[in-house]
Amino acid sequence: MAVANLLRRRCCASLPLLLGTVVLVLGFCSSHVSLALAAAGSKVEYLPGFRHEGPLPFELETGYIGVGESEDIQLFYYFVKSESNHSVDPIVLWISGGPGCSSLYALTQELGPLLFDLPKNNSALPTLSLNPYSWTKVASFIFLDLPVGTGFSYVKSSKNYTSNSEETSDHGAEFLRKWLADHPEYPSNSFYVGGDSFSGVTVPMVVNAISYGINLGLNPQIDLKGYFVGNAFTYPISYIVQMIRGFGLIPDEMYKSYQECGGNLICLLNFLKIGQLTLVNFPQHILETNCIARNEIGASYGQSSVAKRFRGFNVHALDPYFLCKGAQLISQWANDGSVQEALHVRKGSIEEWVQCRDDLPFNRTVLDSRPYYAILSMQGYRSLIYSGDHDLFVCSLSTEAWTKSLGYSIIDDWRPWFLNNQIVGYTRTFSNNMTYAKIKGSGHIAPVYTPLECFIMFKRWISYEKL
Ligand SMILES: *[C@@H]1O[C@H](CO)[C@@H](O)[C@H](O)[C@H]1NC(C)=O
Ligand SMILES: *[C@@H]1O[C@H](CO)[C@@H](O)[C@H](O)[C@H]1NC(C)=O
Ligand SMILES: *[C@@H]1O[C@H](CO)[C@@H](O)[C@H](O)[C@H]1NC(C)=O
Ligand SMILES: *[C@@H]1O[C@H](CO)[C@@H](O)[C@H](O)[C@H]1NC(C)=O
Ligand SMILES: *[C@@H]1O[C@H](CO)[C@@H](O)[C@H](O)[C@H]1NC(C)=O
Repeated sequence: MAVANLLRRRCCASLPLLLGTVVLVLGFCSSHVSLALAAAGSKVEYLPGFRHEGPLPFELETGYIGVGESEDIQLFYYFVKSESNHSVDPIVLWISGGPGCSSLYALTQELGPLLFDLPKNNSALPTLSLNPYSWTKVASFIFLDLPVGTGFSYVKSSKNYTSNSEETSDHGAEFLRKWLADHPEYPSNSFYVGGDSFSGVTVPMVVNAISYGINLGLNPQIDLKGYFVGNAFTYPISYIVQMIRGFGLIPDEMYKSYQECGGNLICLLNFLKIGQLTLVNFPQHILETNCIARNEIGASYGQSSVAKRFRGFNVHALDPYFLCKGAQLISQWANDGSVQEALHVRKGSIEEWVQCRDDLPFNRTVLDSRPYYAILSMQGYRSLIYSGDHDLFVCSLSTEAWTKSLGYSIIDDWRPWFLNNQIVGYTRTFSNNMTYAKIKGSGHIAPVYTPLECFIMFKRWISYEKL
């Protein structure tokens, strides 16, 4: 039960119980030396539902790369070239969380070049427009469906293949080597790995596996610079109750009774029983809509949400429709025959596309990823650890605790960071080249709530500028 069961749901209306068995397996990954040239990806020039006339105004390629024994594992990716100068800009391997959530979510609802429109006609194919704050304006992104079984990724020999954390990180590293062998036009670009939510475990493991291959001298050479993670799950027990008190959702005496009882697991369970479902509407952003209640009263959509109304920077106001119905909308689009054809999806390779696969056969063999962050810090990789501060799922206090616990000195102390002369968050940087960035008023999947702020944060960091 536990953590990840809850974490893999993007639209979960109940308070998560961040509990679970800690299984610490610090694996060093086996190497895959074979570099068989898999079939290259294919260009996608038109997409059904894209509202603008003519071909896509950015370059998109999709394809599969086979990894593992006899390339039984077929990993699907979407490669979006940087809109600045793709021949020199960094390349990011992006992995959405879950485990089991497709990276198509990131491409069309979060930080990629496309955003779904509010539907006007529920039986028509959903339409998409350009995201003015796409992170692909400054870097190329490979949106990867990982672990296998996620999105359009599949196993040739079995419909029910169970992967685990270590194997998945090997798959990610092997994927990147083969992808690069397939794309010799990017021999000297910088590489990064990014992700959010449960990818707080996956990303550092994949980076570690890539780094291991680099140290072994595997080809092609990868100029791996670092990684970034948002509201990153790193270990099961976090600071939810402190956060709840900090937001003033409970009075001091209730918080004290929780502390007096020892602050242990049983305490937390009892405590949450009191508060469950009643303290916040939406744990991924505590000011947001309760989707279940909204459905019950048959409320209409089409108004921008609380979070957006008080922010006011963005042209792309978030509508509760996307929080509550986004998964349905994207499924309708991604399961359409014309869309799959345009994306070069292999016929019959998967049964049904779902945004987040709750029944993904996956063994979470690593739940505490802090040792991986420690290893990567020792190797000097730069990192951006960002956190939307209204998330109770993976809360900022927890992120602040583990980043600090790595034990590096602070070289740029806690301070606000600004956009248009306004404070939009707080940041500090450690001597392991790790920058922590908090985003004010944002939630679990931060770019969904504060797209402009997150884009600016990424743009500054990837360009080696101070936030
Ligand atoms: C991209 O960068 C390369 C290398 O610096 C340069 O030769 C090329 O002209 C640039 N392309 C554009 C469109 O700026
Ligand atoms: C809604 O879309 C369906 C399917 O494309 C179409 O047949 C119908 O006419 C549309 N309805 C309206 C009101 O536009
Ligand atoms: C897949 O494997 C799991 C665990 O071994 C099993 O419970 C499930 O029934 C299997 N599903 C199919 C479709 O074979
Ligand atoms: C998951 O992995 C652990 C550790 O390797 C192993 O003991 C366990 O049997 C695995 N569970 C399943 C269902 O494969
Ligand atoms: C931080 O990164 C710089 C270059 O990006 C590198 O020279 C330095 O060694 C790194 N610092 C640490 C502590 O690894």
